[in-house]
Amino acid sequence: MSTQPVGIHDLSFATTHYFLDHAVLAERLGVDRDKFYLGIGQEKMSVAAADEDIVTLAAAAAKPILERHGTEGIRTVLLATETGVDQSKAAALYLHSLIGLPNTARVVELKQACYGGTAGLAFAAGLIARDPSERVLVIAADIAKYELDTPGEPTQGAAAVAMLISANPAIVTLDPQQGLYSADIMDFWRPNYRSEAIVDGKTSVNAYQKAAQEAWTDYRRRGGRELTEFAAFCYHQPFTKMAYKAHKHLLESQGFTADAADIDAAIKLTTLYNRTVGNSYTASLYLGLAALLDHADDLTGKPLAFLSYGSGAVAEFFSGTVEPGYREHIRTAANQAAIDSREPIDYAHYRALHEAASPSDGAYHATAEETRRPYRLAAISGHKRIYEAR
Ligand code: COA
Repeated sequence: MSTQPVGIHDLSFATTHYFLDHAVLAERLGVDRDKFYLGIGQEKMSVAAADEDIVTLAAAAAKPILERHGTEGIRTVLLATETGVDQSKAAALYLHSLIGLPNTARVVELKQACYGGTAGLAFAAGLIARDPSERVLVIAADIAKYELDTPGEPTQGAAAVAMLISANPAIVTLDPQQGLYSADIMDFWRPNYRSEAIVDGKTSVNAYQKAAQEAWTDYRRRGGRELTEFAAFCYHQPFTKMAYKAHKHLLESQGFTADAADIDAAIKLTTLYNRTVGNSYTASLYLGLAALLDHADDLTGKPLAFLSYGSGAVAEFFSGTVEPGYREHIRTAANQAAIDSREPIDYAHYRALHEAASPSDGAYHATAEETRRPYRLAAISGHKRIYEAR
């Protein structure tokens, strides 16, 4: 095994063409908009257009990484999602024709609710420790969808984050310790016959907090850092208020006073993208990292904490250190542009997209041309999904 540092060498994200403002949803649901803006900490949610799905999002996120670094040494591609488009074929295989992945790579899809991307990161680190000349493309891509007129509806969203994991990374070097916790819990799930998740919201909030504490305890048992060492904490954010709740719980469980200003200092910058993108399931934690790197004063040499949670449930607490010169490698302008270039959608259009069912008769179905992102789902024909670059 190599002892070379391993971590995140590049990180890029993509989101949808549309967004829905939570003020529109609040009016429709007859609730005070501050319940969303302040109560759950969400202002807008990304909404997938008729011709967008996790493949088009993943391709848009990964393309800038391949443009910058090429494909040499990428022998593994791991795409984590809980919004898969096929029960058998790995979604990232479509990326071969869209963005030109190498043929000499294993391509696999990972699933464990919102945790899958972190599994990808851990597997990638293991592969690179075995052979540091290899690089792994990890993509987390999801479209969060709950039933209309339910408490989960304002916590929808969509995004993809692509990360190049390598030895001697330019952005974040991962620490070797990982704290793990898993248990059989029915807090959130989606049977194969449903397009919307089923969630027991309050149970999931409690399960998340307990799992975070247990994963932290395991991380410390494995020789991880002290809680006071971290410059910031990146939490999975099903809604941004959850990060605040989880951090408060973790601090208090370890005997610290959870002062509001301290929690803000540890969390706030990680929530800036998630507030306006909404829940992107597997991608949400890494959107938090992108927002932190893009907005914090110099983080060089500072340790960061990460808490990944996927209902069902698996949690992982891990950490890493920000590399000198990281600012030359992050994609602040492109990240902000991905968010700012979305178009607002009205409630009727949002609802029509939400209710649209995928055709299942095998006939040719062209998809409405809506997105202005780089890739689109052009049609479904003969049960095959046909993608194109725009
Ligand atoms: N102004 C400010 N805050 C307000 C408000 C207003 N007008 N009205 C309500 N709030 C606050 C509430 O006090 C509450 O705050 P708290 O959590 O700090 O107590 C918060 O807004 C949410 O209100 P609540 O009534 O608890 O919301 P809800 O029952 O409609 O739904 C969830 C909340 C999280 C259960 C729901 O969004 C959900 O099911 N989400 C999907 C599952 C999920 O994301 N789980 C997370 C773990 S993975």
